[in-house]
Amino acid sequence: MSILVLMDGWNPAPWAAALQSVLPDEQIVIYPDVADPDAVEYALVWAPESGVLNRFPNLKALFSLGAGVDHLLRDNSLPEVAIARIVDPDLTGRMSEWVVAQVLLHHRQQLRYLEFQKKSLWRDLEQPAAAEVCVGVMGLGELGRDAADILHRLGFALRGWSRTARTVPHVSCFNGADGLDEFLSGTDILVCLLPLTTDTEALIDNTVFDRLRSDGPLGGPVFINAGRGRIQVEADLVAALRGKVLIGASLDVFEVEPLPQDSPLWSLDNVIITPHAAAVSSPKALSHLIARQVQAHRAGKPLAHLVDRARGY
Ligand code: NDP
Ligand code: OXD
Repeated sequence: MSILVLMDGWNPAPWAAALQSVLPDEQIVIYPDVADPDAVEYALVWAPESGVLNRFPNLKALFSLGAGVDHLLRDNSLPEVAIARIVDPDLTGRMSEWVVAQVLLHHRQQLRYLEFQKKSLWRDLEQPAAAEVCVGVMGLGELGRDAADILHRLGFALRGWSRTARTVPHVSCFNGADGLDEFLSGTDILVCLLPLTTDTEALIDNTVFDRLRSDGPLGGPVFINAGRGRIQVEADLVAALRGKVLIGASLDVFEVEPLPQDSPLWSLDNVIITPHAAAVSSPKALSHLIARQVQAHRAGKPLAHLVDRARGY
């Protein structure tokens, strides 16, 4: 019996090594070097090619090596086995660091200060208090709730938006299409931590940017996205940034990754770009979670953090 490591664009070797160190009695195999496909029971996966998992007829469960599972569910022929995703303090902490850093960079007007610095200009800007600024978090899941909690402790006002009704301490919560207008109308800094599903694809377009609070203390709204790139309509985003409908953006995810060289986003001076690196999955940290999942499943216990395929996340 074996555990398969199969990934596209990521190096599988550190994952196999980290897993072997916490599961020394298991046989770990790395795709495509699989001598006995029938022996594979579990697979750790990131962005597998469509259809490839059907080569392993005795698969019992799939472990997504990301929190998002759009990279799996896009495969219409995915085996009908349980899918568990990453929910782990290491990943959550990394994402909250990124989100909080971006919120603070825009709130404290750091891009403008960098411009002054380049010109050796000693000039201060009017600085609103955090309490005057409302951060609206789209997606009140594992990641959205943690970022909101830290932002609350920094003093920001918070709104949140989810699919179903949620109650989150210190966050004014809205949900569904009916709640979107009110959520957006009071938001100064919009943070997207949504999964990519059929419902969220291309959700964030000019109609969303236009509904954000335009007379807030920062001089206009800001957009921050670490969810998935295909949730944002990039042509609308570029137009909103050029037209000052948005005063800034921080983007970790893009419609096409890597972000093409000719994307206008690269050259907008009010945009911060990171290469889908907000919260990387660490083999060392996450191998413990995978090991617990395999051990639980072998002992006949349920897997944690299961994905609902119909819902898409
Ligand atoms: P969760 O599944 O815990 O939370 C998802 C949240 O989104 C829930 O609050 C859910 O609502 C809400 N949601 C889903 N669909 C809709 C919809 N149609 N309308 C409104 N709200 C919706 O996910 P995580 O917080 O763990 O992760 C979120 C995403 O972050 C991942 O799917 C992934 O795409 C991205 N990510 C990006 C990384 C990066 O490095 N850039 C790293 C890790 C994750 P409800 O509460 O009602 O279910
Ligand atoms: C994830 C990611 O989904 O890294 O975890 O994008």
